Amino acid sequence: MKQHQPLIIGNWKMNPTTAVEAKTIVTSVKSSIKKFAGATIVIAPPALFIREVKKALGSSAIALAGQTMHEAPVGAQTGEVSAGMLTAAGVTYVIIGHSERRTLGESDEQVNKKTVAALKSKLTAVVCIGEKDRDSQGNFFMHIEAQLVAIFKDVPTARFKDIVIAYEPIWAIGTGKTASVEDVLEMQLFIKKTLTKHFAKASAAKVRIIYGGSVNADNATSLYASGGISGFLVGGASLKPADFTKIIAATL
Ligand code: PGA
Repeated sequence: MKQHQPLIIGNWKMNPTTAVEAKTIVTSVKSSIKKFAGATIVIAPPALFIREVKKALGSSAIALAGQTMHEAPVGAQTGEVSAGMLTAAGVTYVIIGHSERRTLGESDEQVNKKTVAALKSKLTAVVCIGEKDRDSQGNFFMHIEAQLVAIFKDVPTARFKDIVIAYEPIWAIGTGKTASVEDVLEMQLFIKKTLTKHFAKASAAKVRIIYGGSVNADNATSLYASGGISGFLVGGASLKPADFTKIIAATL
């Protein structure tokens, strides 16, 4: 029996091109997802489409996520979106520190500030971590530990329930190379162990851990059943309603 209800997040990234296409995808997901009570489903559309997607979702239980946010509440930050803006648009989750943002220069310190700001605005923070490469000595575990410790600075333990750690090995994102079930299980245990090393066990246990990186309709069942994770952060496959639905079904 898993400790947390399954959580499946679809990260649309910079897709699709028009609001009409966005509505088509979400309407299709919505109609197939009625059957899936028991899982929390979240969609992260481009910020520009949040309002349309929200409208198309209507009374559906599917929640919305921002793909990123700025740590400041308002101000001279051209092109950015704040946590308060996301909340005001009806968004309840936000992805923070995705590797595609970190490559653009987002530091561990910023990821921490964003996490704190997201929680202040009552958003659930889905914070991404992951190694670029794996070395046979296992040095990448130190990188993961450093990323984890940075995220939780100044986060009150009472808010750990509102943090989701998305383990996304960079080499597995959009490449079709998924981490093996054993690797995911091992990393999930390492994340739990690291959190328990730094915080009280009961608080650490509140943090949900999900996996992302080339998750698809074929590998989702074994990853969920044996990887020790509470769900998935899905990129490419989340734009294909039939595949996304199969991934959700794999967790139920
Ligand atoms: P992918 O992306 O499923 O296309 O590999 C995952 C992600 O970047 O969140």
